[in-house]
Amino acid sequence: MSPFHLTRILPEDATEAALRADVLEGLTRNPKTLPPKWFYDTRGSELFEEITRLPEYYPSRAEREILLARAHAIAESSGARTMVELGSGSSEKTRYLLDALRGLHTYVPVDVSTSALRQAAQTLAAERPELEIHALIADFTSQLTMPHTPGPRLMVFLGGTVGNLLPSERSTFLTSIRALMTPGDALLLGTDLVKEEKTLVQAYDDAAGVTAAFNKNVLNVLNRELGADFDPSAFDHVAAWDAQNQWIEMRLRARTAQAVKIPALDLLVDFTAGEELRTEVSAKFQEEGVREELSAAGMELTQWWTDEAGRFALSLSRVS
Ligand code: SAH
Ligand code: AVI
Repeated sequence: MSPFHLTRILPEDATEAALRADVLEGLTRNPKTLPPKWFYDTRGSELFEEITRLPEYYPSRAEREILLARAHAIAESSGARTMVELGSGSSEKTRYLLDALRGLHTYVPVDVSTSALRQAAQTLAAERPELEIHALIADFTSQLTMPHTPGPRLMVFLGGTVGNLLPSERSTFLTSIRALMTPGDALLLGTDLVKEEKTLVQAYDDAAGVTAAFNKNVLNVLNRELGADFDPSAFDHVAAWDAQNQWIEMRLRARTAQAVKIPALDLLVDFTAGEELRTEVSAKFQEEGVREELSAAGMELTQWWTDEAGRFALSLSRVS
């Protein structure tokens, strides 16, 4: 097997400090919130992979369909020698791009999930000994330092994960990605599209309960990392469409009034019966909105592809 580099940009103690800060901030405000990046411990990453195979969860299948049809056009248009993928997870769908990008020299997957990143990098290194793999354990919302690799670069952000950022976070994020790019580089962005409410809600509240387990897993993360005593069975999974913000909101609703201890923060958190904790937003987009957000960040959307059913889009943008 060929070696791959695994660089931890996020030191363990910085991750722990970030978790403490997010939990303290999020659970002492009203309404309570937690950022979605804390879903992805080893179990969370496994549950996400299960979600991608659910009959109700169309985004992964729709994006795969587009990649299958367009990978060669994307490769031709970008001519990339380095591909940087943010929130790469299992790098499953990325394979279509790796196959199509004939002149690719280096692949830089970036993720907070050490387990997902290590497994993906290991598998790819075994399959593609000619490819340099430089995996980065990093938070893509923090300042990223990229390894020195040959251009042009294709920045890739698949799965619709950009929709898990709030609008102000999205604007900061897109601007920081633009700052990493030079003329000739491109950004390939996956965005889930606005559609009928029923389809959206079912995608986030599947019959087998996998998304519910994924949602509740964040409580297990807090129990393990901060010594908290959340009882996941004391919360219900909620998925609701917010038509005004055009996003699906995932929440955890307390079944009864309860107090949760978080010893690492010296904190007691009270929940009233029925109180909801927001754990994720998943924004859905329209072409014009994506074009405008990219333009505000200094990029020009040059290509827009959807799956046959028009559920999901991939766009290719250039530095403007
Ligand atoms: N791109 C893959 C995985 C999407 S799941 C796909 O399309 O199937 C979202 C991925 O983003 C997870 O692997 C998660 O660990 C990662 N992630 C979430 N927030 C992150 C952050 N702030 N920084 C880096 N990675 C993050
Ligand atoms: C990673 N992200 C794009 C997923 C989504 O659809 O927002 C996370 C997810 N949450 C529930 N199911 C899947």
